[in-house]
Amino acid sequence: MNRPWRALLFVQPIALFLGGCIVSSRGPDGGVTAAAPATAVPPLRSVAGARAIGAAVEAQRLREPAFARVLASNFNSLTPENDMKWINVEPTPGTFSFRAGDALVAFAEHNGMRVRGHNLVWHTQLAPWVAGLSGEALRAAMIRHVGNVVAHWKGKIRQWDVVNEAFADGAGGELRHDSPFTALGAGFIADAFRAAHEADPAALLFYNDYEIEGLGTPKAEAVYQMAQRLKAAGVPIGGVGFQMHVDPRHWPDPQSIRQNLERFAALGLAVELTEMDVPVGEIPGDKTQKLEAQKRLTHDIVAVCVAVPACSGVTFWGLTDRYSWLNDPEWGQLRGRGPHRPLPFDADYVAKPMAAGIAAALAGN
Ligand code: XIL
Repeated sequence: MNRPWRALLFVQPIALFLGGCIVSSRGPDGGVTAAAPATAVPPLRSVAGARAIGAAVEAQRLREPAFARVLASNFNSLTPENDMKWINVEPTPGTFSFRAGDALVAFAEHNGMRVRGHNLVWHTQLAPWVAGLSGEALRAAMIRHVGNVVAHWKGKIRQWDVVNEAFADGAGGELRHDSPFTALGAGFIADAFRAAHEADPAALLFYNDYEIEGLGTPKAEAVYQMAQRLKAAGVPIGGVGFQMHVDPRHWPDPQSIRQNLERFAALGLAVELTEMDVPVGEIPGDKTQKLEAQKRLTHDIVAVCVAVPACSGVTFWGLTDRYSWLNDPEWGQLRGRGPHRPLPFDADYVAKPMAAGIAAALAGN
């Protein structure tokens, strides 16, 4: 393990020991700032019960004390935002780079957090050498990648997103055309799950995607039918992840999401909300009104998970508005005008109304 991470690990238990409430008055350096309103929100993990409450994190952020403290005191689950993706883990054939992922796993272990591995087979952030392969060479590379990565963290990663975003957008409900894996036929999905299961039979294996959250989209139907087929064929799929990158201009509809989660659960699958964020840029009103709307919307979605017994967790795609993939114009413009402020803690790590909405929903209120 590299040394800066190790030094950091010893600092963290303090955050848990301090316990109590998050008083919304800590600056980015951990000091107390005078300006912030003193809204008290309980540490989210303290009201989560058996449910996982997670955040996506990049290992480099753990060096920032305020980040590490807010992460460890509020979340009992951690997803690597980028550090376990193919391009980072196997950048050249057979050369594996586990260091950043190891740092996240060590942090999680030290702070009593679960790790959701993300992800093994995806067309994006794929190492360029993989896209140059086809046929049996591609299938073999995929199986070797899945096997090696899952084996490295065997017993340490409780859930894996084995296959991410395999289906196309739009009306057809078919596998996406911009993935090299599609040419292998739908069997690549079953192959990936089997390879992961062989490497760690105890890990719960997920299919993960976006725009499958509510009933009625072609992709939701296609993924449901795939899940049925995989279960019927005895493929070791254990769950489906619903990303939940909300676009408040169009959705969500909590009732439709609840019914959808319930039908997947009825197949004997776990369901999780795996990448939730709620951008406010296009929500009408001033900043206060936007953040109140964000709170209500987030509350209602987290409450859906709380109401569905098979929904084992909710993960946010980040924890602070300081670092969100939607701050990058490339992604942010997909949700219209910013600033999006899509996460539970503001850029100074102050708990937002959104955090209060999450806490209330987790507590059943
Ligand atoms: C995003 C990361 O947040 C960005 O930092 C990166 O540049 C692109 O990928 N669906 C997924 C995630 O499954 O892996 C994506 O993460 C967001 C959409």
